[in-house]
Amino acid sequence: MSNNRRDFIKTSIVAGTGLALGLSSFQSWGGVFGKKVRLAVIGTGGRGRFLMEHLLNQMSNNDTYELVAICDNYQPSMDAAKKICNKYKITPKTFDDYKKLMADAPVDGVIIATPLYQHAHITIDCLNAGIHVLCEKSMARTLSDAKAMYDASIKSGSILIIGHQRMFNKKYLNGIERIHAGEFGPVGQVKAYWHRNKDWRRPIPEGKPELERQLNWRLYKEYSAGLLTELMSHQIQVSNWAFQNTPVSVQASGGIQFWKDGREVPDNLAAIFTYADGSRCIADYMNMNRNYGVEEHIIADYATLRMETNKLQWDKPNQTVNGPMKTPVSKMVDDIKKGEKKPAAIGGASWRPETAKKTKEESIYEGQKGDGTVEELLTFVEFIKTKSAPDWMLREGYNASLWTLLTEKAIDTGKTVTCPKKYMI
Ligand SMILES: NC(=O)c1ccc[n+]([C@@H]2O[C@H](COP(=O)([O-])OP(=O)(O)OC[C@H]3O[C@@H](n4cnc5c(N)ncnc54)[C@H](O)[C@@H]3O)[C@@H](O)[C@H]2O)c1
Repeated sequence: MSNNRRDFIKTSIVAGTGLALGLSSFQSWGGVFGKKVRLAVIGTGGRGRFLMEHLLNQMSNNDTYELVAICDNYQPSMDAAKKICNKYKITPKTFDDYKKLMADAPVDGVIIATPLYQHAHITIDCLNAGIHVLCEKSMARTLSDAKAMYDASIKSGSILIIGHQRMFNKKYLNGIERIHAGEFGPVGQVKAYWHRNKDWRRPIPEGKPELERQLNWRLYKEYSAGLLTELMSHQIQVSNWAFQNTPVSVQASGGIQFWKDGREVPDNLAAIFTYADGSRCIADYMNMNRNYGVEEHIIADYATLRMETNKLQWDKPNQTVNGPMKTPVSKMVDDIKKGEKKPAAIGGASWRPETAKKTKEESIYEGQKGDGTVEELLTFVEFIKTKSAPDWMLREGYNASLWTLLTEKAIDTGKTVTCPKKYMI
């Protein structure tokens, strides 16, 4: 194992929630397992194939794991996955049912990329059979399913991590580590949004209207909470990570404003999460305008970190682009001298417009590549080898899912929602 990989894992772990994390297990990489880690992908749709490509692409330089099986119950997804296997000249076993895969293809770990409502039972069956699981986000469709997955991992001792790739992304790791070290002062607010201007629909094959709910599962409440589970889950994970805490309550509002096409999940929503110290995460999502795109602003006393775009903007006094800030009164005197303003009696403290300030800006992390997906996959392989994963990683995934689903409840009831005790971990 290269030093970079070892450092990455250490960094990712140290940059987590600062808990005691058993680093010693990572010292034994490279020797203990002694054979290739056998992996399978269950659900070879859009995301499953993306993960397969990343896995196989890395494999040419890395012979510590192999893809021995793939599973999907929709033929077009399986056909597309086989094409990828052909490209990489591998012939994994193929299955249309994960239970057959479990019976006929011995594996050490599975990567589950099925639709959300199919995560829990597949994950729990695998964990109970001693198979380690990397399950895509969001963790589960219901609170009780998410808790059952968490409990199954603890009880079985099998590793479960949830695919929040930002936890493995160096710009996030670096930024969060510096936030936790206090470099930017206390965090007061996280402002997150993810705006798209598409209907988010997948085309249905000609003459097969019965496939609508199967292919467009994201738009129906039985299978998904839409923007909440698909997008917000990533960002509440980042917010919790930055605050090193979980919220105490959420207020939210949302509805179908634009795409009145039979979908059941909101296309426009906003949520406010309150943390114990009074700090907040404000998050909003829409499918009708992408002017603002996607971002998580972590707003601390001395700086704002824009995590998606890798920007760190200082807000220390005397760090404005044009030199030290002037007081409002001295600026007024200057303006009068220059003839730009006439002398006037002032009663208030300032006429300075409350617009955004231009301040020194830099990258959070130089040399950022990718979005953390490769590191996530390789870390999962290493966790399997060492039969150990840091506890905080599953808790991050669980809590992101929990607060995503509680936000859905806040929208549905119009009430401020707190977490029932039985779902606290
Ligand atoms: N981490 C990320 O950034 C990210 C991005 C996209 C999607 N995802 C997640 O990945 C998951 C899949 O999303 P997608 O866009 O690939 O969906 P998709 O609909 O494209 O693919 C899902 C696949 O699972 C298959 N499937 C359904 N039930 C199955 C079962 N019981 N056994 C085997 N296969 C089954 C479907 O046939 C389909 O091919 C979701 O949980 C989604 O939230 C994560």
